[in-house]
Amino acid sequence: MERLRIEGGRRLDGTVKIHGAKNSALPLLAATLLTKDECALHNCPRLSDVDVAMRILRHLGCRAVWEENTVSVQADAVCRHDIPEGLMREMRSSIVFLGAILARCGEAALSFPGGCELGPRPIDLHLSSLRRMGAVIEEEFGVLYCRVPKGLHGAAITLPFPSVGATENVLIAAVTAKGTTVLRNAAREPEIADLCDFLTQCGARIHGAGESTVTVEGVAKLHGCAHRVIPDRIEAATYMAAVAATGGTVVLQNVETEHLMPVMPAFEEAGCRLTLWGDALLCSAPPRLHRVRTVRTMPYPGFPTDAAAPLLAMCTVAEGTGVFVETIFESRYKYAGELCRMGACIKVEDRVAVVEGRPTLFGTGVACTDLRGGAALVVAALAAEGVTVIGELHHLDRGYEDMTGALSALGGKVKRTEAEHGTADQDQSEKEKTAGQSVYDGVHPFRHDRGTDLGERAGGCGAEKRQQAGSVRKEGVDVLTQRDHRVG
Ligand code: EPZ
Repeated sequence: MERLRIEGGRRLDGTVKIHGAKNSALPLLAATLLTKDECALHNCPRLSDVDVAMRILRHLGCRAVWEENTVSVQADAVCRHDIPEGLMREMRSSIVFLGAILARCGEAALSFPGGCELGPRPIDLHLSSLRRMGAVIEEEFGVLYCRVPKGLHGAAITLPFPSVGATENVLIAAVTAKGTTVLRNAAREPEIADLCDFLTQCGARIHGAGESTVTVEGVAKLHGCAHRVIPDRIEAATYMAAVAATGGTVVLQNVETEHLMPVMPAFEEAGCRLTLWGDALLCSAPPRLHRVRTVRTMPYPGFPTDAAAPLLAMCTVAEGTGVFVETIFESRYKYAGELCRMGACIKVEDRVAVVEGRPTLFGTGVACTDLRGGAALVVAALAAEGVTVIGELHHLDRGYEDMTGALSALGGKVKRTEAEHGTADQDQSEKEKTAGQSVYDGVHPFRHDRGTDLGERAGGCGAEKRQQAGSVRKEGVDVLTQRDHRVG
């Protein structure tokens, strides 16, 4: 099991080149199924989720290969229409293959998707939309059997909520369906417009890409194309938060500044100076960040839910109190308990988190609870005094390519190390540095099922709790022994 060792408390300065967007690359890879021609996706991020998407494509009979940072897919020999449960469970985006497989094969068999545990993540909107387009979908023992007896046809669909995944599934299914599809209340995230761009380059006829109402006129056939994946706005926001939390300055290269507009006001409110030019953004933080009063996550162009966790972590070392309101997912504060262990003061109640800034945090052993929660821990660790050891890195690997390299280039003391048994191989000096800080001495620190408990416990402030280290340690032990099971 690998972990990330971060020696915090140093100002980060320098340049980071932003990779292609994970949440664009995944639906784009699914959409390559629509044509037998070769498609090349340039600027594809090297992430474990991208690998899963490529494994799904290969399972279906496609050729999917890396050439530097380009993924080439040739789907001329598709021979299956199912996705094994193991691959479905690996990520939420596997469900976006449903529309693509149905369009290509006329039938599909797959189970429910996995992905980050952010509360209930139903797929009812995906299924009801595809049903309106002629799909017959039956569920048996957790497997969805889907077929289109008369082929997919255009439909008028209004989503009750602008779901990103459901929008992607409808668009992918609609481009080669018979007739016209009008999708209302579609998601407007930049990744949707990127998917529409790709499909259009392949010969699709789409009007209103990236808008709330999208019209798709079905065409008989698509052809291949070469497409450049848009930059990852969430990766960019994460590095902004990481550098700002240390009082540093960062130049982000290869960003689409327009896509960062929803997060910019929060950084400006925190006292950061932002300068934009071309595809670059400079973010320069004051020595102590000001408070960010309220952050309410919303569908694009609102504040992105995926950027809330790194920003919240940044606010744990700002002056004053800020309020975060999560409107997209039910349970997105699991990481708050881990931040509290580092001395952060966060009170969580349902979808609201109140963050009282502290002058500093303290390094300790923590574990990623989900992808963006993991990013929050990295932000906090960089700002914290002492050494933080972060476990459950597979979450981070889903969404951040070479984070260690990027942070090291900015001057961070960040190292990825192998560890078979949690803290067991921690070297003595590290133990001494974290002595009195870790609440998990002698106990496996990297369980991944503690989220809910700690989320609930996040009502207390870590710094105060640390002063009663004995009782905290006991509480940690009790939590682990009572709930010693892993989830998905
Ligand atoms: C996408 O997830 C992203 N994932 C998420 O990023 C992101 O947080 C989310 O959009 C919102 O922006 C990918 O693109 C791979 P949704 P998705 O469908 O498509 C409810 C990250 O960290 N809903 O817009 O799953 C759902 O429960 C990830 O990179 C239904 O009720 O998001 C949720 O509350 C995490 N029924 C809300 O809508 C449905 O059928 C938003 O879901 C579908 C969704």
